[in-house]
Amino acid sequence: MLGNDVTFLNHGSFGARPTAVHEHQEALRRQVERQPIQAIDADMVELMPSIRSSLATFLGTATDRLDLVANASEAVNSILRSLELSPGDELLVPDHAYGAVHQTLRYVAHRTGATVKVVHVPVPVHDSQELVNLVQDAMTDRTRLLLIDHVTSPTAIRFPVRELAAVARARGIDVLVDGAHAPGMLDLKVDSIGATWYIGNLHKWVCTPIGAAFIVTDPDRIDTLHPAIISHGYQQGHVEEFNWQGTRDYTPWRSIPFVLDWIQSEWGWDEMRRHNHQMASWAHVMLCEAWEVEPISPLDGSLLGSMATLALPESIRASYQQLGPLHDHLRDEHAIEVPIMEWDGRLWLRVSAQLYNRPEDYRRLADVVRIMAG
Ligand SMILES: Cc1ncc(COP(=O)(O)O)c(C=O)c1O
Repeated sequence: MLGNDVTFLNHGSFGARPTAVHEHQEALRRQVERQPIQAIDADMVELMPSIRSSLATFLGTATDRLDLVANASEAVNSILRSLELSPGDELLVPDHAYGAVHQTLRYVAHRTGATVKVVHVPVPVHDSQELVNLVQDAMTDRTRLLLIDHVTSPTAIRFPVRELAAVARARGIDVLVDGAHAPGMLDLKVDSIGATWYIGNLHKWVCTPIGAAFIVTDPDRIDTLHPAIISHGYQQGHVEEFNWQGTRDYTPWRSIPFVLDWIQSEWGWDEMRRHNHQMASWAHVMLCEAWEVEPISPLDGSLLGSMATLALPESIRASYQQLGPLHDHLRDEHAIEVPIMEWDGRLWLRVSAQLYNRPEDYRRLADVVRIMAG
């Protein structure tokens, strides 16, 4: 449904929905307006088991480990605010983590006397083992929680979450994997990762309506998990607690089985993932060469999903010290929508690759930035 007046290279932020998905949600919304009591109450009670079970199969987990929420922020809030932390506990997080999630860590630390310990992971990153070593070296006897992104937002690097979960949990450290970008981008087998909690968004790379996300919890810990919003279901088990968090738009959750089937039948999930990964890896190499910048992850794409982050050429960084004006300039003067990120004191540009993108999109970006760089 994207307008054809813009070269859209930012699927990663909020996703984008196929017309069929939008129309499906619109039909569900009409049902809600025709008979709200039936659609929000009775229908959802009846449908939730099958919604949860179709998503569990897609994610490689068990239905009774899975809960639905509206977005990754809500998932992280539910988990972190369910923890009982004590003064001196350390919450460990790499500096590639998403800003809003970092703020939630700060909030719970402030309320409990725990501390947030940020581990600097310098770029370029050469391989997974380097990431494991850096994060492992930052663990101490006081580390209670490791929060690790599966695919990072500012740097678009795929972290070795299975290896990190194994190392941390062997030391008694809880592991929360923020997989906001992972479903639909990576071939996900959540249970095989072995995290205490795995969370993800569905409105990014699964292309559901906005407002669909999930938490998968280790069965041993599920009794202590509560949603960020406490409602009727309190103390009736996680399924009751998460299924009803008050009046809200349930059509994104209700659309999940439709989207999973529809994309499978139109393109196939494996094909879509393969296409997007190949396109992102190709764009990564092409842009590094065009702008003569060093890559921050291997050029073979081994640490990429379907996004790639590049350093902006030095001369552009000199003239645009802030991200806002450069983003707006690309959008307003060149009709290119692409995120410019500030991270580790530098400016970066991140491209996404989704089925609607074409090689010309990235070549246009390459040319525009090369000319701007002078
Ligand atoms: C890694 C990561 N975590 C969390 C979020 C927050 O997602 P939401 O805004 O859907 O809560 C994002 C959003 O882009 C993200 O990239």
